Amino acid sequence: MKRACVIGWPVEHSRSPLIHRYWLKQYGIDGAYEKEAVRPEELAQFLGSLEERGYAGCNVTLPHKEAALQAASIADEAARAIGAANTLWLDDSGRLNAGNTDAYGFITNLNAAAPGWNDEGRPVMVLGAGGAARAIVHGLLAEGAAHIMLANRTRGRADALAAAFGPPVTAVDWQQRGSALAGCGLLVNATSLGMTGKDPLDLDLAELPPKAVVADIVYAPLETELLAAARARGNRTVDGLGMLLHQAVPGFARWFGVRPEVSPGLRDHIAASLGEG
Ligand code: ATR
Repeated sequence: MKRACVIGWPVEHSRSPLIHRYWLKQYGIDGAYEKEAVRPEELAQFLGSLEERGYAGCNVTLPHKEAALQAASIADEAARAIGAANTLWLDDSGRLNAGNTDAYGFITNLNAAAPGWNDEGRPVMVLGAGGAARAIVHGLLAEGAAHIMLANRTRGRADALAAAFGPPVTAVDWQQRGSALAGCGLLVNATSLGMTGKDPLDLDLAELPPKAVVADIVYAPLETELLAAARARGNRTVDGLGMLLHQAVPGFARWFGVRPEVSPGLRDHIAASLGEG
């Protein structure tokens, strides 16, 4: 039997088991997907014993994404560019490989849900400057976004991220996040604002062109206040659940040998769990 897991601290909130167990059942695979609560000080030891524990690999969630990359012998281009890993697997020689599928998940979902979003090559606004923002900026640049503006509460983090990616990425003040939407083709919320239990995202969409696409990485609630406001004024919207589902695909394919489909049935299954906290 093939086994994989998600490691985090805490790990209880992770939706990954629901996604991977759905696919294991759908494809009739003799496999298992577990949750493993791993303390930061135990990470290296845990990853060193993945094979002994019977795992083909794992997903990595907070706070281990950077350390997981460091612990791996080999890393894919996305993990190196993003500086963090969310998917690990043992190769045929038993070496620990690290990948990052967050950019893939975001872009695959964006292209599926809002095809043509970059046809006019307009500027993109990304809110946030944490790990999620970094992955999304990496994905957007690879997809040909010509100009990305970053707005973050802590301006210094936006400056640092912009400097890491170079001239197509610039920082703007958090106070300018509304006015800078003029002319944008895509707005992405890559902060945790708007998530159940977190502060609301206070953003005036008045300047955002009607043809712009609005994407949120927050998936609980499924329709955030940002997406509801965008939809009400006629913008196309892309929710965070799609990214969550798509980022899981490459890991499942590595561990279990089947490239799974992100189907409406899977979406409904995970969406139904979101109200459960
Ligand atoms: P992740 O790696 O998941 O992106 P993170 O590094 O904690 O997580 O980043 C969370 C993002 O949400 C950051 O951009 C953070 O802004 P700061 O860099 O200023 O901390 C943003 N964020 C969280 N709470 C916020 C709030 N109340 N107002 C504005 N931004 C907030």
